[in-house]
Amino acid sequence: MQLSTMDLDTFSQASLLGFAALTAYILTLLPTNLRIVFPLTRKTGFPQWLLKYRRVIGLLSFFLAVLHGFIFFKQRNFDLFDIKTYFVYFQGVSSFIILTLLAITSNDWSVKRLKKNWKKLQILTYLAMFLVTWHIWDKMAGHWTYLTPVGIAAITATIVLFLGRVLIDRQSRQQQNQPK
Ligand code: HEM
Repeated sequence: MQLSTMDLDTFSQASLLGFAALTAYILTLLPTNLRIVFPLTRKTGFPQWLLKYRRVIGLLSFFLAVLHGFIFFKQRNFDLFDIKTYFVYFQGVSSFIILTLLAITSNDWSVKRLKKNWKKLQILTYLAMFLVTWHIWDKMAGHWTYLTPVGIAAITATIVLFLGRVLIDRQSRQQQNQPK
């Protein structure tokens, strides 16, 4: 694939909203992963800042995704009562459902009510990470805009960071379980 700027399309408002939703969503994933994989970043105060505003950044991501999805639903005359629509937009719709669940439960009342289940629900955010990546690859295939390579590079870096964190978590658990 030749990736000169000539091959890239200009992006629509709806694409820009999708990109903004993706950026905000990535910011919600960063603090925990950065803290574990690059502990030195703590000194910058950046992970702490992201953690402090994570809830509001997550809500922002959700609202941007609502606008992004809504514009495409209107523009492309999707039939909401046709099951085929949900097959074609499976990745986008399922990551949107996850963002909706996380947005609805991102309040103190839900944290208290759901207790341990709230933590379990948060794990879905990592599933959304893969679904959104798939969504972009699938929907943008053959007509990348200027935003697409940036979006794909950013979400891929986030996935690599997440995998690094999983590895570190696993190693430290193994070390803890070793007989002394
Ligand atoms: C109801 C759910 C969704 C629908 C129907 C939908 C629809 C679409 C469509 C049709 C495209 C292709 C745009 C084009 O051909 O130019 C697209 C691209 C994209 N979507 Fe979604 N989407 C949904 C959810 C999401 C979510 C939840 C996110 C992020 C959190 C997202 C982020 C993106 C991004 C980053 C692109 C690529 C934009 C570019 O590179 O120019 N989408 N979406």
